[in-house]
Amino acid sequence: MPLTDGEDALNSLLLQTRPYPFTRLNQLLSGVTPPAHLTPISLGIGEPKHPTPQCITDTLIEHIGSIAHYPSMRGEVALREAISAWCARRFGAAVDPFTQILPVLGSREALFSFVQSHVNAADNPCVIMPTPFYQIYEGAALLAGAEPVYLPLTQDTGYRMDLTVLDESVLKRAQVVFVCSPNNPTGSTIGLDEWKELFAMSDRYGFVLCSDECYSEIYCDESRPPLGALDAARQLGRTDFKNLIIFQSLSKRSNAPGMRSGFVAGDARLIEPFLLYRTYHGSSMCPAIQRASTVAWSDETHVVENRRLYREKFDAAQPIINSVLDAPMPDASFYLWTKVPGSDEAFTKALYEQQALTVLPGSYLSRSVNGFDAGYGYVRLALVAEPAEVTEAARRIERFMRDYAA
Ligand SMILES: Cc1ncc(COP(=O)(O)O)c(C=O)c1O
Repeated sequence: MPLTDGEDALNSLLLQTRPYPFTRLNQLLSGVTPPAHLTPISLGIGEPKHPTPQCITDTLIEHIGSIAHYPSMRGEVALREAISAWCARRFGAAVDPFTQILPVLGSREALFSFVQSHVNAADNPCVIMPTPFYQIYEGAALLAGAEPVYLPLTQDTGYRMDLTVLDESVLKRAQVVFVCSPNNPTGSTIGLDEWKELFAMSDRYGFVLCSDECYSEIYCDESRPPLGALDAARQLGRTDFKNLIIFQSLSKRSNAPGMRSGFVAGDARLIEPFLLYRTYHGSSMCPAIQRASTVAWSDETHVVENRRLYREKFDAAQPIINSVLDAPMPDASFYLWTKVPGSDEAFTKALYEQQALTVLPGSYLSRSVNGFDAGYGYVRLALVAEPAEVTEAARRIERFMRDYAA
């Protein structure tokens, strides 16, 4: 019997999870034949395509012999110290490598497992998250036995996470609030005022703020890096990072999504039980990857070059796309959150059919709240391919829009 049949599933909570956006995209496009003369281009999946820096691959190879030993769950001191030094440079924050940092196997794994370690299902909990969103937040809440509560992000409010619109009864049940800045998919970022409000709400209701900062190093203006939550906490005098945990990753920053390397940092009172959970879960990082990660967090040259490549693509493609659709420059990230005429699914299907170009319907990343779906009528464009391919994709959108009527 297949798992999805229900009765035979060992964990009934698994049945509450929704199909992943890319499964839905494949279904939408299956049976659609794009023009044979066009090479297919995908702006659908947000997977980095720039080469992994050689300093990372060389270190991995050099230390491959280290796999002869079990790694420690807490991670090597050298790695935690390199992360702490990076947090000091990037966020001006003093983060203790012994109590406030843990290496994790990419941020997805940690976003999911932290919720399992923290949420107490016996308390009728809920987990608050933005919509549109990274779907792992929802799966993490459901599998921890919590109700996901969705907070729509809209263009007219600058994609602000306004918790005050929620009922007091919901806020009292909240054990975790997910914040994603730079945001996937909107590319918006959170400023100090907004963090101040979020911290005040966290103090009032006791929930943990989980700050997903996977895209924090992908931004256009070298002089204006997005504000991180550790930086915001520091500026507001919250040097113990009370009820805050951030999720960082080398996947986008260092073009190493297959390495599965990231870290969490923040409140030591959250990190310690998370480490206990991880001991049972068995999520320790391969020693060779720890060495390569130490090198990666200690080097900024490749990160600056990475941003230059994204800037080149935004410079070439965004003005073309924005001339036919509403596709403003994001504050950060490699996405264009683009308004389209009518249904995002219909747009996506027609674009693939006529131009062999894949994008992701916004409604695949969102949930309806009181009949309003903040992702409907948007598509997400990931500018990850080679510059020439991204420019060609922009030209195809321009051509497509000459005749497209929703
Ligand atoms: C918003 C967001 N958070 C976290 C992740 C997970 O990234 P990783 O597990 O590679 O660190 C992704 C991946 O695309 C993402 O879009």
